[in-house]
Parts: sequence; C-alpha cells; structure tokens
Amino acid sequence: MSKHVYIKTFGCQMNERDSEIMAQLLAQSGYIPVAEQTDADLVILNTCSIRAKAEQKVFSLLGSLRKQKKQQPELRIAVAGCVAQQEGEQIFRRMPHVDIVVGTQQLYQLPEMLGRLERNETKREISCNLDKEFTIPPFQRLLEDAPHQLAAFRKFVTIMQGCNNYCSYCVVPSTRGREISRPVADILEEVRLLVARGIKEITLLGQNVNSYGCTNAVAEEPTGFADLLTMVAAVPGVQRLRFTTSNPQDLSTELMQCFRDLPNLCPQFHLPVQAGSNAVLKRMNRKYTRELYLEKVAELRSYCPDIAIGTDVIVGFPGETEEDFEQTMDLLETVRFHGSFSFKYSDRPHTRSTDFSDKVEEQVKGERLQRFQNRQDAISLERNQEFLGKTVEVMIEANRSSGSQGRTGTNHIVHFTSPTNLLPGDLALVTITHAGQHSLKGELADKEKSNR
Ligand code: 5AD
Ligand code: SF4
Repeated sequence: MSKHVYIKTFGCQMNERDSEIMAQLLAQSGYIPVAEQTDADLVILNTCSIRAKAEQKVFSLLGSLRKQKKQQPELRIAVAGCVAQQEGEQIFRRMPHVDIVVGTQQLYQLPEMLGRLERNETKREISCNLDKEFTIPPFQRLLEDAPHQLAAFRKFVTIMQGCNNYCSYCVVPSTRGREISRPVADILEEVRLLVARGIKEITLLGQNVNSYGCTNAVAEEPTGFADLLTMVAAVPGVQRLRFTTSNPQDLSTELMQCFRDLPNLCPQFHLPVQAGSNAVLKRMNRKYTRELYLEKVAELRSYCPDIAIGTDVIVGFPGETEEDFEQTMDLLETVRFHGSFSFKYSDRPHTRSTDFSDKVEEQVKGERLQRFQNRQDAISLERNQEFLGKTVEVMIEANRSSGSQGRTGTNHIVHFTSPTNLLPGDLALVTITHAGQHSLKGELADKEKSNR
C-alpha cells in the first residue's frame, strides 16, 4: 500500500526548496504527497525560527498533531528545518509524540531515517549536527528521476547555504551554519536539466548570495556571484532570472551592472536595510551605513532606472529611540521602496542582541510597525500607479475563465483577460489600466504570444 506524506513549510524560500527536495527524496521511497494533514501517514513540519512568532506557530501545530496521533498511532511526525536545528533533542522532551528531528544539513538522510523507524530498528531518529565541512549534494539525480515535464514553469535553485555575517539579531548562523557555496558546475547542470523539463524562470537562492563563492573552496574556481549570474543567464531557455537575498555590504558594482547587461535578469532587487539609523545599524552588526546604502541604491538605479527595490525592516531593535526610528521612516521616503517586509524585533536564541539592555516596549514596537506599514502601503500604491498606461511583459501564472494572472519582471502581479490559448509560463504584453495596492489590472496589448 502506498504511503502518504504531508509537508508543511514555514519561513523562507530556502525552506520551500528544501521541502521540495524532501518530497522528491520521499517519492523515491514510495511516498505520495497529500494536501491534507489528516490524510497523511507521515507529517513533516519544515520549520522556521527567524522570529519568535514563526517558532510559536510550529509548536502550536505540533500540539494539535498530538490529538491526531492519539487517533492514528501509526502516524509519523518529523520536524525539519531551523527549529529542529535549534532545539534538537529538546523537541522530543517538549513534544514526545515527535518521531524524527532532522537538521538543516541532514534532510538528505530522511529516507534512511524513516527506513530505520519502519524496520523498528529505532524508536526515534535525530540527526542535526552542523558540519563546517558539509557540502550540498548535487540534486541532479533527483531531477533525472522526475517526470519529463515538470508541472511548474519556475523553480528555485539553491546556490549556497548558511551565513557568516553574524548580524546581532539573527538566528541563521546557528541554524544554517557557516556559508557554503555549491560548485558552479552543479548549479549550471541543475539549471540545464530544469530548462530541459520546461522551466522558464529560475530564482537563485541563498541567505547571502552576494558572497557566493568567496567563502570556501567548494566552488572550484574563484567565481563571484556576478560571474555565476552571467553564466546562468546564458543557459539557453532561461527566460527569466531572479535571486534572493542580498546583503548591502557585499553588493558589488559588477553585480549591479548585471541589471544593465543581462536581458533576462528581472529588474527586481530585494535589498534588506533593516534600519535607517547608523547607531542601530552598528548595534545590529550590519557593516554599512545609511549613506552607503543610499549610494548603492542610486548606483543600482543608474544601471537600471526602473528596477523595483524591496527591503526588510526591523522596528524596535534594542535601544532604538524615536529619533532612530524617524531615520528609518526618512529612508523609506528617500528610497520609496516598491514594497517591504517589516517586523517587530524579537529575541532569538544564541543571538547577541538578546542580551542587549534597553529593550523597546511591545506597545511602542507595535505603534512603530503600524506607522511604517501605513506609509509603505501608501508608497506601494503610488509606485503601482506609475505603471498606469504602460505596456509590460508578464509571464502567465494561471489562466481561468474569469481571467488570467501573470507577473511582471518587477515581480508585480497583473490580472487581465486573455484568450484561453495562453499557458502558464507563456509571455504576454499587457497594458496596465488599473493600479491597486497589491496588484495591477490590464488588457492584453498583443494578441500574439511574445516568444522572448
Ligand atoms: N526579530 C525580528 N525580525 C527579524 N528578522 C531577522 N531576525 C529578526 C529578529 N530577531 C527579519 C529581518 C530579516 C527577515 C528575514 O527577518 O528583517 O531580513
Ligand atoms: Fe527561517 Fe532563516 Fe531558517 Fe529560512 S533560514 S527557515 S528564514 S530561520
């Protein structure tokens, strides 16, 4: 009888990609994915620990799984990802109904771990050491087994894992370990295989893609991120290319020039600033100033005037004064980000800022977050209105009788009516007629498919 697996993913795109890898590995052991937790023989929570709230969500879902396991004693529960890495054995103590704890470097071992449980060789499985010598295995063999045509038209490709920056608030160095880059040859091979299976859009993933290759000897030749990007862009069939996430301190001119030089690199840049005050940036151990950040934004725009820049902001970092926060608001007015993710600061295990004094009151954090988000929402709307009357190229995501949905190179969602012969992954030219806060509406400008 076939077994069913339900994977719930929390957190970032790195985790989404890891969940996909787990699903592919498990498919080779006969597990079929299901959409409902209650239909599963195996539930995997691929967890995130970046903020306190993310971690709380994991534990509350684990709590509710206890009931399901009472009714269904054969159910296996696995905790993977950053909370697994952070808590290790503790998870079994807090949640005795959990069967497997698998760390961020061990997800590839999941089938073997499950096998030992199924054969009753062990009662519980845990593997979550962080190894400095760890290398990311090539995923090609997974793709070789995949159906000829993949259901999707866009995919993530992990190019590096971990982070060496030690921002004082950030849990990632302790959950994902030191920075490790994948070899160029592995990455290019994976991209080629994806394109051969119909993938048109590739997003390169890493916690700090800008320092790709610089940090270890695994990338066989000294290839920087701009070089890697250029090589991936040159793979025939890559119609759209994106990447995330960048640290402003490592953002090189060569990388910025890629936006001028590579026609398939989408004009979108996620560049987390975190705070607008130099005093706060210093305590965050971010190695740039607000002035440097603004210079980088100006330089980027000089190479690609229409680039959509997004950011991440933390409000209420320990010691953040009203004046410091005003500096963040001021930076928002200066850059006028197309969009941003903003968060209230929360203490995380093994981070330096957890021990900082002058914690900001919860209520003050809430007020600052609200002020920031209100202003960002208004700016996002104004930014979207800049598209009115323009004709943009969108890649189709969904085509329903009620209309189509696509995405611009700048990563804006566009709704429009279209003839039904357009398929997900096709490109179309759309003239924008309406701009909302979260999406655009338009009309097909060119009935012919554009085949760039
Ligand atoms: N508290 C609040 N937000 C945080 N982030 C990272 N660590 C914390 C923390 N301790 C935010 C940053 C980062 C995003 C992924 O999450 O803005 O860029
Ligand atoms: Fe969350 Fe960071 Fe782990 Fe991604 S790497 S799951 S954002 S803690």
